[in-house]
Parts: sequence; C-alpha cells; structure tokens
Amino acid sequence: MKSSFSLMISKLVRIRVIKSINEPDKNISLPLDQIIQGDCLTIMPTLPAESIDLVFADPPYNLQLTRDLWRPNLTRVDAVKETWDQFNDYSDYDEFTRQWILECRRLLKPEGTLWVIGTYHNIHRIGTILQDLDFWILNDIIWIKTNPMPNFHGVRFTNAHEILIWAQKQRDAKTRYNHMTIKALNDDLQMRSDWLLPICCGKERIKKGGKKAHPTQKPEALLYRILMASTRPGDIVLDPFFGTGTSGIVAKQLHRHWIGIEKNLEYVKLSSERIDATHQTDFDPLVFNLTEKRRRPRIPFGSLLENGLLLPGQKLFLGGKNGKMATVHSDGTIHCDNLQGSIHMVARQILQAPCNGWEEWFYEDPVSGEMRSINELRLELYALLEQEKGNVDVGRS
Ligand SMILES: C[S@@+](CC[C@H](N)C(=O)[O-])C[C@H]1O[C@@H](n2cnc3c(N)ncnc32)[C@H](O)[C@@H]1O
Repeated sequence: MKSSFSLMISKLVRIRVIKSINEPDKNISLPLDQIIQGDCLTIMPTLPAESIDLVFADPPYNLQLTRDLWRPNLTRVDAVKETWDQFNDYSDYDEFTRQWILECRRLLKPEGTLWVIGTYHNIHRIGTILQDLDFWILNDIIWIKTNPMPNFHGVRFTNAHEILIWAQKQRDAKTRYNHMTIKALNDDLQMRSDWLLPICCGKERIKKGGKKAHPTQKPEALLYRILMASTRPGDIVLDPFFGTGTSGIVAKQLHRHWIGIEKNLEYVKLSSERIDATHQTDFDPLVFNLTEKRRRPRIPFGSLLENGLLLPGQKLFLGGKNGKMATVHSDGTIHCDNLQGSIHMVARQILQAPCNGWEEWFYEDPVSGEMRSINELRLELYALLEQEKGNVDVGRS
C-alpha cells in the first residue's frame, strides 16, 4: 500500500485551487478534472469534507463467477471475472460497501446526492447499507437494456436491466432535481423511472485487440441523463470507480468538474486517453445553464395587483368559466363563500386536495372576453421583470 496522497496520485495529477463556475469566490483545494490512481478507500479520506456535489458510483458487482461462460457456438462470453470484482464472501463485500459509502457521506455537501448502479448481485445489499447509513432514497431507476446479453443456456430469464439508486445525503435537504430540464430532454413529458437505453456498443465501446477493453463500460447516454437531472455547470462530480471514465467524459462535455478514482493503471491510461480525446465546446451560459422555472424569484399573487395586471374586486373562476367564483381583495387574498385566504389555500379548501393556486384560477380577459389562467399573468410579469433587469439569463437567479 502506498504511503502518502502524493504518492498515490499519478505524476500527471496536480492539486490546484479551482474556481467553480457557479461559486467564483470559493477556494476549494481539490484534484479537479483529474484521475487519481489508487484504492478509493485510501484516496477518498484525503479529500476535503463536504466538497462534492454529486457522487456517481459503479462499484464492483461481486458477481462471484467461478467458471467461464460459453455460448452455444462454443465462443467464450466476456464476463466480469477480474480480481477487482472478487470478494471472500457477502460480509467482505458489505464491509467494503459500508466503507466507501461512509466516505461518500463525509465528502458530499449537505444537499449533495449519490447515484449507485448495480445488478441483482449487489444493488439490494447496497440499498440496505445506504438506508442503514442514513441516506434517503429519492428514486430507483430501472435501466432497461434494449440489447441485453441473452441467457445462453436458457435456464432463466434474460437479465435485461440494471438498477440505479439515487439517494440524498440528508433527508429533506434541498437537493437538485432539474425538473424542467429533464422534461425538456424528454419532449416535454415528465421523465419516468424506467429508462430504455442500449448497452455501450459500436464506436463508443473501447476495444483493444478486437476485444472489449473494459468489461463494464457504461453508455454515455446514461451519464448524460444523470448529470443533466442532478447537477448544474460548475458542480463537482466524484466517481470512485472510474473504469473507462464515462462519467468524466460526460461531465467534461457538460462543463461539470469531475474527479475520478481508479485502482487499475491500465484503466487509468484508458480513461485518460478517452477524456483527452473528448471535445469540450466553449462555455456559453445560454447553452449550458438550465432554464429551471423553480429557480426564478418567487412572485406572490399580490404582485399582479401591484403591477396592474389584475384589479381589486376582479373575479376569479376555479378551473374555468363554470367554476366557483372568488373576488380578489386589495391585499392579494381572495374571497369565496365563507373562505378568505391565498389563491392556494382557498383552492385547496374547495377542492379538498393539494393543489397549486396558480394553476387552478382563471380570469376573464377584459379585451377578448376569454378565460385565461392567472399563471399567464405571472409569466407576463416574469418577462417584464427580466426585461427591466436587462438580464437574458432567465434560468438562473
Ligand atoms: C464497474 S467498473 C466501472 C465502470 C465505469 N463506470 C465505466 O463506465 O467504465 C468498476 C471499476 O472500479 C475499479 N475498482 C474496483 N475496486 C476499486 C477500488 N477499491 N478503488 C478504486 N477503483 C476500484 C475497477 O478497476 C473497475 O474499473
């Protein structure tokens, strides 16, 4: 085992003081955009606490393969039989898992999140350990492989998926989920937790001497979705099981910072070449910053009155023309039958269900006579305020 951090990192690796795109004043000493060669259990403790926005981990599967797998045509299957996937038994694997997850907990910022990918061999053990270590699971995603490897012997179902767990370090922390971005990425439909993507193949798959250079190279499309959903430009992504560096490649393309830890020198070289060959376009805030409506400043309903977009005494209708009618008061509350309060509270009381008042109330346009949602007035006001600020970067406030 190597003795110091400086020995553990390859010669190419420099520690430098970085300026994150989003936090220009924060001086954090981290090996940004670097691959560190070594065991993640030794390297992670050398990194500063609460410095990482997101961990992506693709740990050993603990497949426990004891013999070669053969296809019916007598060719051998490229299965995961490397020493990095070997553990004595489940308790050995669990202890290893506990240790790296505990380090993730220490390194993540309070609002940071962790993505772990695995198969039935390991993901359920990892899920339990995550919960035991006080991570809060936000989602599990089923990655359905459009081109899985068949079960050659026909003795059980084709194993056609992997599971990703997305968990936050601290329950109820304001973790980043770029809802609008992910919806936009999915043709304006909310994205579901079943992702249909091919396994890494074709030109993307790195080969050496005609054979796969790494048995478990993940598709870039998978990482693209993960980083778009849960990071923003300038965020720091740590991958303790870097392999061929898929997370680093996508992070580089999307202007996120990345740190990769990989034990195997061959894979370090491979990922380093791959990342060097990855083209990064210039950073343009209009292209890379996210247009998250939620990040806009909150506009209270009363602002519509202050800005003359609605008048005191005007009528609102719940759900449209034939819905319950409420009167707008000068203080921004509304009044309907014996109820008076915010647009949200009154709508909730009438509907007896959770709801967002902005989406429930309509008013009659004085010019066209048509029913319009009050949310349209809110959007008009946003546009007006942005114009006044002369700020085109509407997505980031
Ligand atoms: C499942 S693969 C990750 C593949 C990677 N996501 C990709 O797209 O190429 C796991 C990687 O972790 C590395 N590894 C295993 N144990 C490790 C440890 N304790 N510290 C650092 N790397 C380790 C292995 O060498 C292997 O490359």
